[in-house]
Amino acid sequence: MKRKTHYTCQSCGFQTARWLGRCSGCGQWNTLVEERSQEVDARGSLAELREDFRVERSKEKGSETLRWERLDEGKENTKSEPRISTGISELDRVLGGGLVPDSFVLLGGDPGIGKSTLFLQLALSLSFSRDQPIKILYVSGEESTEQIRSRAKRIRTDLNSEHFFLAGETRIEKVFSMIKEIRPQVLVMDSLQTFTSGTLESAPGSISQVREVSARLMTLAKTAHIAVLLVGHVNKEGSIAGPKVVEHLVDTVLYFEGDGGQNYRLLRTVKNRFGSTRELGVFEMQSDGLQEVKNPSSLFLNEHHRSVSGTAIAATMEGTRPLLIELQALVSTSPLAIPRRTSVGMDSNRIALIAAILERHMKTSLAQKDLFFNVAGGFRLNEPACDLAAAVSIWSSLRDHPLPLDWVFIGELGLTGEVRRVSLVEARLEEAKKLGFQTAVVSRGMMDRCKQIKGIRLIAVSEISDLAGILS
Ligand code: TYD
Ligand code: MG
Repeated sequence: MKRKTHYTCQSCGFQTARWLGRCSGCGQWNTLVEERSQEVDARGSLAELREDFRVERSKEKGSETLRWERLDEGKENTKSEPRISTGISELDRVLGGGLVPDSFVLLGGDPGIGKSTLFLQLALSLSFSRDQPIKILYVSGEESTEQIRSRAKRIRTDLNSEHFFLAGETRIEKVFSMIKEIRPQVLVMDSLQTFTSGTLESAPGSISQVREVSARLMTLAKTAHIAVLLVGHVNKEGSIAGPKVVEHLVDTVLYFEGDGGQNYRLLRTVKNRFGSTRELGVFEMQSDGLQEVKNPSSLFLNEHHRSVSGTAIAATMEGTRPLLIELQALVSTSPLAIPRRTSVGMDSNRIALIAAILERHMKTSLAQKDLFFNVAGGFRLNEPACDLAAAVSIWSSLRDHPLPLDWVFIGELGLTGEVRRVSLVEARLEEAKKLGFQTAVVSRGMMDRCKQIKGIRLIAVSEISDLAGILS
């Protein structure tokens, strides 16, 4: 068989027939690696696969036919996608209401964050479903079947299901053969960086392998109507390709993240062809696997039950879900010529901007003061609706003036000191009310909308300077 040699950049995937010291795609040095591929016709393998699953193709083979339609003629796709409920409601939410039967889902995240655990729990939940068990093939290139079994044992005591199949395999062709035997409805592949295709000679985890493996899995999902769930490790070094390389290909991209010493994990939707992005699922890692956190605001709120200075509560939205979060600021006299401005969990430019607004419009001085800002629980905020609460926490620390525990602050700040409207204020207020907050400080422009929510006292502010009278 004729072989071809090419060079692939391990950082951006650029390919060239000649070796280059510097990649012309991304400009990085020494990233090109020689890869030899067997001359296989990619279409050939696709056709083979279609043949294997006996999927009907259009009648006109060979001769090309051209087809177009007018927008106002023809049918619409009115039926909604059927979904498989995973039995884990936090996961159903981020998937956009359950798993779509022939979708390709990528789960990215740092090593050790709990990706394998999450998919194993999902697989267990589906295959042990009482009304409609789903046939699963769980392929791991990282762990042996014994390891997976003992992990499953920690999550569930009885493991007798005839619908759950396990394999420790890294060759994608062998996985395909297993699929033909077992005919699962859901395939879990753990992880992208361990699988290889025999058509390429490059190492597992290289950009070309990662692309090839994902392209084949995509074909599998769409032609054999199997939901493919793929794990991909995020890695900093360029030699192993991360999930970013295949994000454009897959239907849904989820990221699993958490903060060092913390036990909770956030599952975010980054891309979804079948639902909204910006959805968030919250889990807690325990000795018997991941537990859903139904009321996540409790994780991010005040742990001391008396009011202290330097904290304020913000109401943020994560997708369709409101979340109440404690913001903390510490302002102290600086021994340094240039005082420090440190922010964890919120963009430091935003904090600098809020500090400047405070100085200008609240007659405060942060000169010669260090400012440390933190979002409780290691959460990352990127919503301007939290500006007002951030400003209040800084002000409270500077004045050493504690605020009532049951107040929440909702509003965006403008450079001229105005407090601006934010979206979905009703949902934020409902959540605050549910958690026992008595008072909400909101921008005046939202009062009409806010008044629809009964049972929470509202204080309107139009300028940040209005706060002085309200808080002191
Ligand atoms: P894992 O799912 O292997 O992470 P990933 O696939 O993302 O690399 O899980 C990582 C950690 O989770 C591991 O350090 C052990 C811990 N863990 C628990 O705390 N409880 C459990 O029940 C399980 C299965 C794992
Ligand atoms: Mg793993």
